[in-house]
Amino acid sequence: MELLNGNEVSKLIKISIKEQVATLKAEGKKTPHLAAILVGSDGASMTYVAAKEKDCKEVGFDSTVIRFDQSISEAELITEIEKINEDRNIDGLIVQLPLPKHINEKKITETIHFKKDVDGFHPMNVGMMFKGLKTFLPATPYGVIKLIEHYNIETSGKNCVIIGRSDIVGKPMSALMLQKNCTVTVCHSKTQNIGNFTKEADIIIAALGIPLFLKADMVKEGAVVIDVGITRVENLNSKSGYSLKGDVDFETVAPKCSYITPVPGGVGPMTRVGLLLNTLEAVKMQG
Ligand code: GUN
Repeated sequence: MELLNGNEVSKLIKISIKEQVATLKAEGKKTPHLAAILVGSDGASMTYVAAKEKDCKEVGFDSTVIRFDQSISEAELITEIEKINEDRNIDGLIVQLPLPKHINEKKITETIHFKKDVDGFHPMNVGMMFKGLKTFLPATPYGVIKLIEHYNIETSGKNCVIIGRSDIVGKPMSALMLQKNCTVTVCHSKTQNIGNFTKEADIIIAALGIPLFLKADMVKEGAVVIDVGITRVENLNSKSGYSLKGDVDFETVAPKCSYITPVPGGVGPMTRVGLLLNTLEAVKMQG
């Protein structure tokens, strides 16, 4: 069994991004600039946005976080996004989700100009991705693909089972694994006996958000297992009061695998690097 080490691979990619940023600067071109909108004070969202800011700094990007009170109206938020759409200094924009209930996330996603949509959530970018055209890929599926490519994992003709059908992970992941010539099955909350599918899989991508869901008896010998799940589970022995659990019961599943991602240190850091790659791409696309 070999670990798919997202910490290590993301570090290598960040070094390469940093070098490319230095080259852009040396050529008198634009420094990539990511803007993040954060509405309210949800703990996890604040942590994610702070991490994105830190990542930008590390690779030499400019970053701006624009914070709004929970009470901002949908119309006001749309006006702010439109201002950023017009701002030539900003290359990429993300609006951290979830948003307060009175704001329609779909509407917000569609307001961000698709050429600045480094989350890859805009319907234009989703459509281009499904057609296999060059566009911004959602950060997590993008990171997973980079991990698979780094370890030269064979995908052509392999059975890939994805558990979860979210717009952010499961659906785009299915399109990308199909492009890598896998035979793709997407299981979800209404699928009966998921184990019957996963037992036949060469590659399993678990993205359902149920801690320790995938057990050893659901996995065949030699499978590649990629765990996208990250759930905070209370752990009074830990300093933070919680620990992070993936969707895979790592201890029992790992011995059966050819490759497996740990949690943390697997897909998480690759997701963060996916956003950086998109932001760099945004600058290059705009010349
Ligand atoms: N909330 C959880 N994941 C994401 C993400 O990838 N992008 C944004 N904008 N919000 C999120």
